[in-house]
Amino acid sequence: MSWIKEGELSLWERFCANIIKAGPMPKHIAFIMDGNRRYAKKCQVERQEGHSKGFNKLAETLRWCLNLGILEVTVYAFSIENFKRSKSEVDGLMDLARQKFSRLMEEKEKLQRHGVCIRVLGDLHLLPLDLQELIAQAVQATKNYNSDISESLLDKCLYTNHSPHPDILIRTSGEVRLSDFLLWQTSHSCLVFQPVLWPEYTFWNLFEAILQYQMNHSMLQQKARDMYAEERKRQQLERDQAAVTEQLLQEGLQASGDAQLRRTRLHKLSARREERVQGFLQALELKRADWLARLGTASA
Ligand code: IPE
Ligand code: IPE
Ligand code: MG
Repeated sequence: MSWIKEGELSLWERFCANIIKAGPMPKHIAFIMDGNRRYAKKCQVERQEGHSKGFNKLAETLRWCLNLGILEVTVYAFSIENFKRSKSEVDGLMDLARQKFSRLMEEKEKLQRHGVCIRVLGDLHLLPLDLQELIAQAVQATKNYNSDISESLLDKCLYTNHSPHPDILIRTSGEVRLSDFLLWQTSHSCLVFQPVLWPEYTFWNLFEAILQYQMNHSMLQQKARDMYAEERKRQQLERDQAAVTEQLLQEGLQASGDAQLRRTRLHKLSARREERVQGFLQALELKRADWLARLGTASA
């Protein structure tokens, strides 16, 4: 049987799904799946059983998302902090992750045909040390090009760079903190904290989270995002203008003199920056692939 449980929504769920789909739907949801151990305690089962139920709930949730047309899901499955738990718990979690995620990867191809994108993050979205070093080197190498460093470049350096930021971030179990998850990427997301323990998560909890998103999806929020993007562009242009002025002054030319010359310089400056940035991002991508391959070998 497929791990992402096959099957349609019930009639009533389908009916409500169709109603909600008439409103603005999130394209990307991130989950902090919390509350497995409290669930185990509540149901008087082994802790590992709570974690196992948690992984199975993920499969069910992915199916709901698929049925709702939400094709991008990011989940927080394990944090660096979680290594501080007892060895037996960490080993148990790793076993489950290996088992369940390898099944998920087996089904990845099928899911990709539906256009689904699944990303499982621990703390990996934060930059590992050697990547931080690479960035430090790049900053050093580009110290004459201050205008290269921008928020959008930092955005592209993150593991989540291939997808839009989440529209909704959901944390279960009543905890109201992000525990270092996607801090950068959720600045404009609708944050939904729900009291339900993760293994008990239902379609209706997801439904409620989407309703909250829809209720907050005012023009204002959309405008805020657009204005933010505009602001980034404006800041980049300002930095470029300042760099051109500096260049011209260094060459003993008048900064405000020849408008045509300024335009040509501005154009060249941004084209060269784009080249440098692309080169840097390619190197980063290679380094990251290498790092992940080494991580895979180490944990095999
Ligand atoms: C979340 O549930 C799963 C992981 C962190 C791996 P917890 O294990 O944190 O369970 P609670 O929050 O203590 O109930
Ligand atoms: C939350 O884990 C993150 C995950 C679900 C992986 P914790 O339950 O350990 O987080 P804190 O310690 O309560 O913030
Ligand atoms: Mg917890």
